[in-house]
Amino acid sequence: MREFGTEEKVIDEKLQGSATLLDRKEITPNGKKLYLESYGCQMNFSDSEIVASILSEEGYTTTRNSEDADVILMNTCSIRENAEQRVRNKLSQYNKRKKKNPSLVIGILGCMAERLKKDLLEQEKLVDLIAGPDAYRDLPNLIEEVNGGQKAVNVLLSREETYADIAPVRLGAGGITAFISIMRGCDNMCSFCVVPFTRGRERSRDPESIVKEARELYNNGYREVTLLGQNVDSYKWNITKKGEVIDATQPVVTFADLMEKVALVNPDLRIRFSTSHPKDMTDDVLHVMAKHENLCKYIHLPVQSGSSDVLKRMNRGYTREWYLNRIDAIKRILPTAFISSDIITGFCGETDEDHKETLTLMEEVGYEFSYMFFYSERPKTLAERKFEDDIPEELKKQRLYEVQTLQAKLSYAANERLVGTTCKVLIEGTSKRSDDFVYGRNSQNVTTIFPKDNFKPGDYVDVKITDFTSATLKGIALKS
Ligand code: 5AD
Ligand code: SF4
Repeated sequence: MREFGTEEKVIDEKLQGSATLLDRKEITPNGKKLYLESYGCQMNFSDSEIVASILSEEGYTTTRNSEDADVILMNTCSIRENAEQRVRNKLSQYNKRKKKNPSLVIGILGCMAERLKKDLLEQEKLVDLIAGPDAYRDLPNLIEEVNGGQKAVNVLLSREETYADIAPVRLGAGGITAFISIMRGCDNMCSFCVVPFTRGRERSRDPESIVKEARELYNNGYREVTLLGQNVDSYKWNITKKGEVIDATQPVVTFADLMEKVALVNPDLRIRFSTSHPKDMTDDVLHVMAKHENLCKYIHLPVQSGSSDVLKRMNRGYTREWYLNRIDAIKRILPTAFISSDIITGFCGETDEDHKETLTLMEEVGYEFSYMFFYSERPKTLAERKFEDDIPEELKKQRLYEVQTLQAKLSYAANERLVGTTCKVLIEGTSKRSDDFVYGRNSQNVTTIFPKDNFKPGDYVDVKITDFTSATLKGIALKS
């Protein structure tokens, strides 16, 4: 799953209208303020919107200022050790406030809640409330318990929960782009990854509820949705893992079918998705993407390593050759698509030769973008149990630096090739650097900046690319 990087995302104060439960019911505010802070991946950010919806139904209003809050909830990430450390530091700060304001409720949600469970209460004594990713419907009760003087915990994982009926409160700024969660959990068991332990078994959400959410977003002015799941290519509705149809009166819906359904909501609604797994990505998906212009020509296909030996130890379920064959299929069926990756350096037993294979694979694919990490051993994962974390940190970091340097070169070259071409850009807002410019992304997901003129967020504009950096395109709007 793509991550937001190192910054935490603080949830916006404005409830951005759209498809919220608030729209459907008269809700009396309870006078209490909720401060939500999200770390980690897009899925966490999307989950926070579900949490905001559940608690707004109880009368909570959200605040941007943690000092005003009656309830502070931190939606956390466990993927690397430093992600957890950042949360602990923040929790200590919030705990100092509790001395002045003993009725303040401090809760932890998401992957760290699930991983550490009661340790957070008993050993670390940092929180009042702990709710795992499948327990958010229980939050009103949990807060109630804390208000009654107890500590409250619910970390039960579910095989069914998809929150399909909950219309998220849209918290991101802008009102143009939104996330739609299409499945939860992960059955893959990559040996480095803690997610299967924190987010439980994979389950897909009813396609009709997904299409409905996309339609409501479009009707409320949104122009781009990102379909989210840990492994979207294994999305399957109405069929068991063994291939048995559950309800014979209903169709089976695959990820390719779902993409088509969402694409047909409106040609002016752009669709992205994240994350794909190379072992499951079928040509069907690529053909549907080629058929509909509004399915963005961008694929995030994490490779993790270019060495088949390392991939085997990572339990990724594919080899270097298989992966390159998938890349060939993308390039054949979607010649204009941009491809990005996740790469881990210094995994257990990685030799210099293995590392070089990652570099040569990056060159061969020519990734336009990558998220790059050095390996961080996580408790209870297969790798922690089976392999020695034997690459010294210095070497992990040196290899990461080499990977990052190469990626910068590849991104620069990719953007350079776009100079002189015309890209269709969806405007998302005014440039942070100058009020005279707007920014948006092209179909390939590259941020593009151009003069504001009379354009507004939500407009599609043909932009001729005149300049670039490794991260951004610059251009001028073509007047029709
Ligand atoms: N150490 C470093 N990176 C990791 N990722 C997942 N687990 C680890 C880990 N233990 C990376 C993978 C994944 C991305 C979301 O985070 O590259 O695709
Ligand atoms: Fe998202 Fe959890 Fe993975 Fe972090 S560990 S990236 S929060 S799913």
